[in-house]
Amino acid sequence: MAESMNGLKRTHRCGELSIANAGETVTIMGWVQKNRNKGGLVFIDVRDRSGIIQVVFEEGSTDAALIEKAARLRSEYVIAIAGTVSKRSGAVNENLATGEIEVIPTELRILSEAETPPFPIEENSKTKEELRLKYRYLDLRRPDLQRNLLLRSRVATLTRQFLSEEGFLEIETPILGKSTPEGARDYLVPSRVHPGQFYGLPQSPQLFKQLLMCSGCDRYFQIAKCFRDEDLRADRQPEFTQIDMELSFVDVDDVIDVNERLLAKLFKDVLGVEVALPIPRMTWQEAMDRYGSDKPDTRFGMELTDVTEVVKDCEFVVFKGAIENGGTVRGINAKGQGGMARKKIDKLVDFAKGFGAKGLAYIAIQEDGNVKSSFAKFMTEAQMNALIRAMNGEAGDLLLFAADKNKVVWDVLGSLRLELARQMELLNKDEYKFLWITEFPLLEWSEEQNRYVAMHHPFTMPMEEDLNYLESDPGRVRAKAYDITLNGNEIGGGSVRIFQDDVQERMFEALGFTKEQAQEQFGFLLDAFKYGVPPHAGLAYGLDRLVMLMAKEDSIRDVMAFPKVKDASCLMTAAPNLVDTKQLDELGLALKEEDLV
Ligand code: AMO
Ligand code: AMP
Repeated sequence: MAESMNGLKRTHRCGELSIANAGETVTIMGWVQKNRNKGGLVFIDVRDRSGIIQVVFEEGSTDAALIEKAARLRSEYVIAIAGTVSKRSGAVNENLATGEIEVIPTELRILSEAETPPFPIEENSKTKEELRLKYRYLDLRRPDLQRNLLLRSRVATLTRQFLSEEGFLEIETPILGKSTPEGARDYLVPSRVHPGQFYGLPQSPQLFKQLLMCSGCDRYFQIAKCFRDEDLRADRQPEFTQIDMELSFVDVDDVIDVNERLLAKLFKDVLGVEVALPIPRMTWQEAMDRYGSDKPDTRFGMELTDVTEVVKDCEFVVFKGAIENGGTVRGINAKGQGGMARKKIDKLVDFAKGFGAKGLAYIAIQEDGNVKSSFAKFMTEAQMNALIRAMNGEAGDLLLFAADKNKVVWDVLGSLRLELARQMELLNKDEYKFLWITEFPLLEWSEEQNRYVAMHHPFTMPMEEDLNYLESDPGRVRAKAYDITLNGNEIGGGSVRIFQDDVQERMFEALGFTKEQAQEQFGFLLDAFKYGVPPHAGLAYGLDRLVMLMAKEDSIRDVMAFPKVKDASCLMTAAPNLVDTKQLDELGLALKEEDLV
């Protein structure tokens, strides 16, 4: 039978108590972490959000009925305890923040009993994630997840504070919006009032924040829910949160400045980490050439070297063929890995093939200077030596080469570099390497759609000096777009926006939109621009990714209260689910036979 709290009022959270409270009468409330019954002596660990404290029921100091009641307590019962804080009579528990003290109870109430939980509520759970997600409310009781939620809440609060002080207005934008086919797939919501018509959930507040600039809001921010129906990964959820912002009368440097100060504040106040400002910047082209990635992890080196010139005259068909087809040959040097077993190298080759490589050529330089290589027989000794020299190869090094179109070579070596860093344990989670990536290509050729698509979005401003190529050589045009990366993750991105009709028109043309299509999809924005639009720019962070890195977690699921799993379902609520025919009727919808299984 549950008892009530009547007459009791919590005075402290468990973890707030310390030796400074010794002698005080306190009331704590929380969950039973552990009950150790030594016959006439019962130790109860009580847990709440702030930590754990030990309560000692002992003959002599506590009455017998209370000791008996304490003996019945089981894990996860919710209890209230009034008592006195006392210095521990036994040994100090170094593992516990409150390890110097204990509470000697005068009252115990059982507020709620609990069934045995399906897994223990403890730090570093070994329980399978599926089970934890099914019982997420229990999982969230665990101290690591509690810490993550606290950290996330602090980041959100500090962000609001900082941006407000910088003159940003927090404005909410609609969730029920217009579906536009650019970007990822939209989530659709059927309209009851307009049968056959749908709202699209926002992939980001992009268009609304630009309209707010037209409205004269000057600086806007929002901690915004975004929805994208794409394949899920450790750093991707179907609904996620952005710290979204837009500023009027600014250029690239202004956006970067305010965001560097925001990041520095968050890392200082939340983690005590100093971010050295300014954060380095690198152009997209340089990032691709040096790291094979537009979000390079710069905590370690192992940079790519272009050896096309060095090998262009060799007889190795793999290299020759790639170069003849307009591709390149590039390599990385895995220092000290020259002794890697053949089997392990074969695994790297398979790994590379997973990223589109046709193969991976290698030179393993042994400690004695001898060389094992998959292609030495096609090379002269002089060519081999030149190649090793170009790669700074020394005794004990493993040199790995990919030959293909640039895009494939970058992707393969960029991914391989990360994989090797993982294997070689070069990734230190206490180190935070920020990097701005700038001057992204404006457009990207889509094989699938057989047209150019916007690399960022259709409203991104081309760089003035490249504008002339928008029609003649669209692939060459760079954009006033920037990403902020941290330890190899894209934590945010943004751009300066187009605000001139004629440039926007040319951009739509480059994307293969007819005037009518552009008007149909984005007419409201284009119309708004006719009535006076300030030059503007903005950026959005993936809040989940930022918090994941700050919490040193590997998945954004660990910093979201109720995340979804790979197939976009929620294991706890069993969403998505079938709905009543009546609900469908009201919406004017019917399901196809084959979907009903
Ligand atoms: P972008 O599409 O680059 O830009 O998104 C901004 C940031 O959001 C995060 N992010 C995600 N996080 C979790 N799950 C996802 N599925 C997911 N998709 C993106 C990333 C990314 O850097 N409107 C523009 C911003 C702007 O131009 O101002 C935008 O949405 O960390
Ligand atoms: P092959 O002649 O196809 O047996 O290839 C000889 C070596 O070159 C093998 O080690 C292959 O893994 C490697 N190789 C094949 N294609 C490529 C490529 N596109 N880039 C780099 N190495 C490759």
